[in-house]
Formats: sequence, structure tokens, C-alpha cells
Amino acid sequence: MAELPNCEFAPQPYTGPSKKEVQELRKEYLTPALVTYYRDPIMLVDGHMQYLFDETGKRYLDAFAGIVSVSVGHCHPRVMEAVNEQNSRLQHTTTIYLHPNIAKFAEKLVSTLPEGLDTVYFTNSGSEANDLAILMARAYTKNYDVIALRNGYHGGSQGAMGLTAHYTWKYSVPHGFGVHHAQVPDRYRGHFGYDDPESGPKYALDVKDLIDRGTSGSIAAFIAEPMQGVGGVIEMPDNYLRDAYKYVRSAGGICIADEVQTGFGRTGENFWGFENHSVVPDMVVMAKGIGNGCPLAAVVTTKEIAQCLTEAIHFNTFGGNPVSCAQGLASLEVLLDDGMQENCKQLGETLFAGLQALQKKYTCIGDVRGKGLMLGVELIEDENKTPATKLTADVFETCKDMGLIIGKGGYYGNVLRIKPPMCMTQDDVVFMLEVLDEAFAKETA
Ligand SMILES: Cc1ncc(COP(=O)(O)O)c(C=O)c1O
Repeated sequence: MAELPNCEFAPQPYTGPSKKEVQELRKEYLTPALVTYYRDPIMLVDGHMQYLFDETGKRYLDAFAGIVSVSVGHCHPRVMEAVNEQNSRLQHTTTIYLHPNIAKFAEKLVSTLPEGLDTVYFTNSGSEANDLAILMARAYTKNYDVIALRNGYHGGSQGAMGLTAHYTWKYSVPHGFGVHHAQVPDRYRGHFGYDDPESGPKYALDVKDLIDRGTSGSIAAFIAEPMQGVGGVIEMPDNYLRDAYKYVRSAGGICIADEVQTGFGRTGENFWGFENHSVVPDMVVMAKGIGNGCPLAAVVTTKEIAQCLTEAIHFNTFGGNPVSCAQGLASLEVLLDDGMQENCKQLGETLFAGLQALQKKYTCIGDVRGKGLMLGVELIEDENKTPATKLTADVFETCKDMGLIIGKGGYYGNVLRIKPPMCMTQDDVVFMLEVLDEAFAKETA
């Protein structure tokens, strides 16, 4: 049986309500729309770097990072010091007064981006940031139509839901005015063949077709994740974004990279997901990992585009909050100082090779994909790639029982998603691969 690597941290004994009591309180007082992972949901009450602890003190390796949000580690000491200091001094004022944190954090954030992407607007969530990005794109271009990708996820606000193209996240309410969804360039399931080196440009032609046939020919924006996250770790094929951006710009639109999952070094090779495709967007949306677990998000664009928002007053009460910015700035400093991007690259390579070895051993593993510490394992039942949705759920449960928390997703719910805090170690990788091996052996026996 795989054993978790040593960890010196010991959580305080838990003295709060029992798991059963918490479940009852949730049932009584919280919306039934809240879902929990696992047949027997787990209650997590402590965190230390890449590890989580339940109320009994049982430790888990967290390979999902609170849905790709904890970047440098749970309760990282340097981040906690900065947050605690700010919390004890001043928690809130809003941007109608000056405060150094928002200014210092914006400066640091801009230093990670290509020249020209130098103007920041902070919000509290990725959905809000995507809404704002579309608003700015429309205000700037004076165009209306927006192209997003099928199978993409951009959030749950009414605007972001319209960008999202996956029925499980949508309600039958008016949303997504002017949004058109282009074909997803999915190399594994798409029709251009897995190894077709020209599949990127071929898929991108659908963006052009959509502009020509579905809009007036002038559009406001194109938005895409450089690697789809919720959609099941779908990498954009080579030169897809290059060509899509070209078609969009020639129709007057601006290009938006939703880096909510892919940003901050997670993909290893580069700091931003778009850099893996040698393109430069006009706007970058970031959330999740930006705050290492606090409600923080941002849109970064050019000075010229940002100017369009001054036509009226646009205000966000908590956007740029001093505590959130202290957490964001400290997280970014740790990320850069501690070489987390390089860690993602090195461990990502080891993990990818280990997953490929498992693919050779278990025929149910149809595809291993992703980059750095954003990896996906797609499970199938047969040569026709019938999605192995139940098996995925079973492997996912067994991993949890063995002390490994991973995610799952994809259109068919048959993709295991591995996106741990970026501070993970080589020993954790070994543990993760051993657990997965044992879980596949058990569930396919
Ligand atoms: C790529 C992407 N964009 C936007 C969002 C929405 O972010 P939030 O849940 O903070 O509103 C998510 C959330 O999962 C996401 O994965």
C-alpha cells in the first residue's frame, strides 16, 4: 500500500461540530445546489502546503488544490505572515482611497506579462473578471459579437455562463447574448486526427467561418483558455491560437486569454499559458491561483483598451481589497522567489512519464495530456473511446481512500484532473503514481 511522504506538520486537534452535524447544517441552511465530491464527503479542516487534513487528523496529498486555486501551498508561512499583518492593521477601505497594496501588487503582476499588457483591474472572482473583459471588449471595439469555444468554462455569472459551453453548467435562462461557440480543437476526440500536425490551423478555420457566417463580420472578442480546465484538460493544438487570433483581429476583435487555471507558471515551460503558443493576447483574465485561495481575480489589458471604461463609472467594492492584495502579492513573490514554475516543469515531466507508463499497463487509459502540473488522464471503455465515466468515479474514490485527492471533469466526466499546489515534491509524485497504479489495478480487476 502506497505511503504518504513524511510531513512534520501536525494539525491542532479538531474540536468543532462533527462531520454528521455539519452535513445536517448544510442540508438545513444551505442551497441544495451545493454539490460535494465523494460518496462519503470528506470534511477538511487544516492545510499545510500540499497536504490537507480531515477532522480526524487523516492526511491527504492535495492534487487538486481547491480546484486549481492554491498555487504556492496551503497556509504558506510567508503568505500567512503578510495576510495576518494586513488583517490586523486595516481590512477594507475600497479604491476611493489610496492604499499601497493594490498599487504594489499591480506593478508586480505587470512585471510577469509581455510589454503593453500593463493595466490592471482587480475583481473578486474569475466570473466577474470575464464579465468585465467582455464589457471592455465591447466598449472598446464598439462591436457586439463574441466568439468562445465549445467545451470551455468561464464561470457561473449570467455573462460568464453565456461564454461557457457545456450544458451541465447552464440554466435555461436568457444568457450569452451575442456569444457564438466555435468548435473545440480537441485532438483526442476531434475529427482531424490525433497526430495531424496541421490540426491547429484546420480547427481555427471554424473561428473564421463563424465570424463570416454567424456575425456581421465585425466582432468584439474571442475568448479561450489556452488549455481547457473544467472541460477535461484539452490542450490547444499548435498554431490554433495563432490563426484564431489572426482571424479575430482582422474582424476588429480583441483576443482574450482566460488564464484562470493555466496562469502563474502552472504549465511549467512558461509563466502564462498563452506563451506556450507564441501569441500575445490583448487581455488576460486571471483568478484562482492569483490569490492562493483568497477571493481575488484580475483583468490585465493595454492602457488604450482600459481607457474605454472611463466613459462611465465602473466600480467594484472589494476589488483590490488590501488583504486580498497582500495575499496576492505575497503569493506571487513566493512563486517567483521559490522557483515554482521550474518545479512545475520538472515534476510535470516526471509525472507525465509515470502516467504514460500507467497507460501502457492499463488499456482503460485512453489519453494522457497536459503540461507542467496541469495534467489530465482520459479513461475509456474500448477502442471506440467510449467514455469510462463510472470507472473514473471509482478510481477517484479509491484514490481518496488511499490519501490522494484529485479532480475529475471533461464533458463525459471521464478525465482525471491532476493540478496540485505547485510546491509539491518528487516524493509526492512517487506517492501519487503508486496510488493511481493501485487504484487502477483494483478497479479494473
Ligand atoms: C477557466 C476558468 N475561467 C473562469 C472561471 C470562473 O472563476 P470563478 O469560479 O472564480 O468565478 C473558472 C472556474 O473554474 C475557470 O476554470
